[in-house]
Amino acid sequence: MTTTETFEILQPYPIAEETFVIPWDLEAPPMGHFPMNSMVIRGSEPVLVDTGCPAVRAQWLDAVWSIVDPLDVRWVFLTHDDRDHAGNLLPVLAACPNATVLTTWFSLGRMAEEWETPIERCRFVNDGDTIDVGDRTLVAMRPPLFDNPTTRALFDPATSVLWSVDTFATNLPAPTGEIGDLGDDDFRDGQLFGGRLVAPWTAWLDSEKFSAVVNRFSSLGAAVIAGCHTPVLRGPRVAEAFDLLHGLPGVEPWQEFTQTDLDGWMAAAEQEAASGQG
Ligand SMILES: [Fe+2]
Ligand SMILES: [Fe+2]
Repeated sequence: MTTTETFEILQPYPIAEETFVIPWDLEAPPMGHFPMNSMVIRGSEPVLVDTGCPAVRAQWLDAVWSIVDPLDVRWVFLTHDDRDHAGNLLPVLAACPNATVLTTWFSLGRMAEEWETPIERCRFVNDGDTIDVGDRTLVAMRPPLFDNPTTRALFDPATSVLWSVDTFATNLPAPTGEIGDLGDDDFRDGQLFGGRLVAPWTAWLDSEKFSAVVNRFSSLGAAVIAGCHTPVLRGPRVAEAFDLLHGLPGVEPWQEFTQTDLDGWMAAAEQEAASGQG
């Protein structure tokens, strides 16, 4: 049985000991699909890593509570305040009275545009900080690519699992749980596209300075990388993904879709609708 056959959207799946990805998928025509994942570490003090998207709130909460009792959740590591990561924070806090939010000062301010996060339930975690969660000590680190200034990745030395947040984002031809299910071309094209989509300034970077940042991230020694917008990376794909990341400053920026593209898509949709009626 391959991973493809067992992969199901919103069905948590184990990626390492007591570590689960909650996968979701967003269709993104004409570029295929984007994963929209979150993660759970079910150690002695269970940790939710991000809180999923509001668009699938009920299903996401059901999926998470199928692997951890909300009363047992002790920590919510919020990588940043973007909606695909913080979208279900308040329902999570309501369901998990024993949980503390690991976040940043700036994230709290940014979320205050929409809701008030109970500050007495928060702890600030900055780049390089460690968090003792009972049976393991997690490491927070700013990842090399991000689309929000508050972003912190999370490394679990107990399992060598790295949550890379928005780094290693990729589009996919179809929903996919493990990156090994992707061919070489789709893997490379997806990494280069996702990286430039998340961080459209990569062509402005000083390659040497950026490589030092990438090296700091890779020196965590992750054996398994999970992220919000990537299938799980492991084996040779880990080093290959870091190599592609190193090369991003040398790649031309991605040219965004234009109004002409949108007009074309709308015309095609109208034509399809008309032929459906005929
Ligand atoms: Fe983000
Ligand atoms: Fe994201």
